[in-house]
Amino acid sequence: SVKRLMAPDIANLKGQRPIVSLTSYHAHTAAIADKYCEFLLVGDSLGMVMHGFETTVPVTLDLMIMHGKAVVRGSKRALVVVDMPFGSYEESPQIAFRNAARVMKETNCGAVKLEGGRRMAETIRYLVDRGVPVLAHIGLTPQSINVIGGFKAQGCQREQWEVLEDDARAVAEAGAFAVVLEALAEPLARRITDAIPIPTIGIGASADCDGQILVMEDMLGLSPRVPKFVKEFGRVGEAIEGAIAAYADEVRARSFPSTKHTYEMKSGATGGSPE
Ligand code: KIV
Ligand code: NA
Repeated sequence: SVKRLMAPDIANLKGQRPIVSLTSYHAHTAAIADKYCEFLLVGDSLGMVMHGFETTVPVTLDLMIMHGKAVVRGSKRALVVVDMPFGSYEESPQIAFRNAARVMKETNCGAVKLEGGRRMAETIRYLVDRGVPVLAHIGLTPQSINVIGGFKAQGCQREQWEVLEDDARAVAEAGAFAVVLEALAEPLARRITDAIPIPTIGIGASADCDGQILVMEDMLGLSPRVPKFVKEFGRVGEAIEGAIAAYADEVRARSFPSTKHTYEMKSGATGGSPE
């Protein structure tokens, strides 16, 4: 069996080669992405993509654990990182540890992710010191959407840079193995990438990051609306619609199922077996 990558393996890729990652919420897509990605993120974006919520705020720990288990089962080689959902870690390092430990025990994932820079540094240190590898996430932090007032790019004004650079330094010093930079104006991601010893994983933060991540459904062309930073590498939504339309036509025309997809009697038997 293949050895699964661990958080330090990801950290060690800085300066070696670009880190490839995607979100994944379910077993079959995890198995495919596992062949190409260093890590798979069970992102709380699953609340919007899989469950139709308007933001990530309603996502629960139970939901994250359910999808986390599916992705761990579906993959073999990639590190699986599970997002800590809103409300499960902000209150105190102790509560964060209790919930992160539950996520790790129940899903068998190799790391967790949480949102926030300096304000979460103490918690990151507390978790890492107790055996929980942490992927940090700064810039646009969608769990704070109700405070920010919308999904907006960060660092578009020069005065904001120092705050974001301080956040990046703080999570690196606290022991995060890497940091997601979401929706940062150029060339801030390059400055941060040069300034800290851990890998930066960009989403809408330029090609100067140490790695990239996208929401899988967005890059597949399966999401109805996508942010500016998403490139649609496939047209899976169109492929699904084409297949469903063809199925509906054939059912209505009674041309599906044909004899090829129907069981025959065996001679001497009373019925077919479903193989
Ligand atoms: O939830 C998510 O999908 C994320 C990534 C986009 C970084 O946090
Ligand atoms: Na997330």
